[in-house]
Amino acid sequence: MRRFTHCTGSIGPGLGFPSQGDRTRLDASVQGFVKRADRSCARALSAKAIVMSSALALAPSNGIDRIGKYPITREIGTGPEGSVWLASDPFAGREVAIKLLDPLAMSHPELERRFRRALMNEAALAARLSHPHIVALYDAVADEDLCYVVMEYVAGGNLEAYCDARALLPLDQAVEIVFKCALALEHAHQQGVIHRNLKASNILVRRGTDIKVSDFCSGHAERYARVLPKAQALAYSSPEQLQELGLTQQTDIYSLGVVMYRLLTGREPFHGANDAELAEKIIAATPAAPSRHRCELPSALEQVVLRALERDTRRRYATWAEFSGDLTDAYRMLDHAEVENSDTERFNIVRALSFFRDFQDVEIWETLRSANFRRFPAGRIIMREGERGECFYVLTAGEVEVTRSGTPLDILTPGDCFGEMLYFSQSSARRTTTIKTLGPTTVLEIDSMALRLASAPCQVQFNKAFMRILIDRLTWANAKLAAA
Ligand SMILES: Nc1ncnc2c1ncn2[C@@H]1O[C@H](COP(=O)(O)OP(=O)(O)OP(=O)(O)O)[C@@H](O)[C@H]1O
Ligand SMILES: [Mg+2]
Repeated sequence: MRRFTHCTGSIGPGLGFPSQGDRTRLDASVQGFVKRADRSCARALSAKAIVMSSALALAPSNGIDRIGKYPITREIGTGPEGSVWLASDPFAGREVAIKLLDPLAMSHPELERRFRRALMNEAALAARLSHPHIVALYDAVADEDLCYVVMEYVAGGNLEAYCDARALLPLDQAVEIVFKCALALEHAHQQGVIHRNLKASNILVRRGTDIKVSDFCSGHAERYARVLPKAQALAYSSPEQLQELGLTQQTDIYSLGVVMYRLLTGREPFHGANDAELAEKIIAATPAAPSRHRCELPSALEQVVLRALERDTRRRYATWAEFSGDLTDAYRMLDHAEVENSDTERFNIVRALSFFRDFQDVEIWETLRSANFRRFPAGRIIMREGERGECFYVLTAGEVEVTRSGTPLDILTPGDCFGEMLYFSQSSARRTTTIKTLGPTTVLEIDSMALRLASAPCQVQFNKAFMRILIDRLTWANAKLAAA
């Protein structure tokens, strides 16, 4: 139901009336009547007021000009709960997407009230989620007449486009996307949030495999909006969700399994002639092996999808860590050229290094954005004393020798870092040691300047890691002195 799409003018608080200024120009008797009217009458008048607003509109466009304080650019699309609009936030100086919900489509005022409360509760939780693969939530409004959420705008559409059998992604890219979703959902789960409404259209694409999971705040509120899950989302609903059992992170694991099945095969795991038949199959049937639809699917990958789709929660993945672990193993077996260039591989290499052991996933992603992997053959000098430099390094594979004025000082192994003094000093500082590879070596090169601009939590993690290294080196030097 799209109540707002064809009106001209602004929508602001107060029975769907336009802006504050416009509202005062509405006939006072209509407003007075609205206040006295019962709910159903108020709903009808709300719609009427919007229609009336077109007569009052000062703006020449044919769509909504403003929602709350946000000027509208255009409509992005519609979904079962309302419509989504591209808008600007002049104060923050950024584009935003606004989801205008349609609580008045509900049949009962009590449900409507609970919907608002649930929406605000969920929005408060969702706003706490800060992750590179989760759409940021900026604001939520649920007053008498308007419910909307203001969120980060993600420009590249959603995953539906890649769930078509004629437009499937290469396997490694599909797996990479699923992996990022799993990390995002694991982060949400750690914050006490279960999505409950995960589906392809709620995974937005920035570009390439860079995705963001959206609509964290809709899953719970939805229960009050419609008794049964929405037809569109039914295919993603877990068996326990359909049976109205208690939900855990496993329900999201199931839904991500459905997304994965669709990304890999272009088909849904189950089909039914109608909703009841589909629900029955979800609860009782076993999906066809994905390789029946795409023969090149490796068995390891197929096993991951099928285990995520297990209808019995005792056989399904119990945690995101288990799911991601198997996914990573399956990914390694894929026959693809640029393993180390993929985001997933980069993430996993860094995650395993002792240097990053206290980092949250989100901080690792942040680090990777200002870092490069560089490979060197044996005997190559990576850093020379006296040189100026802007980067520091964490060794990811191989060994390097540290020398000063030709005197060997140390041998570094994966997880060790070098060149970090520049991070603490001014850009005019010079390298104090020389670093030479002892065999084929790979390093993570991190731009010190970019790191100074990183988020506070990320910088704190680096400071802690450097401090640990400093203490280790002092201890080592003391031991050497004592032994001398
Ligand atoms: N933050 C956003 N940035 C850009 N586009 C968005 C954003 N949020 C939603 N969209 C787009 O708006 C359209 C409608 O989204 P909407 O969330 O209303 O429907 P849905 O995802 O199909 O269902 P649901 O309401 O259950 O999430 C979709 O095409 C979606 O890709
Ligand atoms: Mg959505």
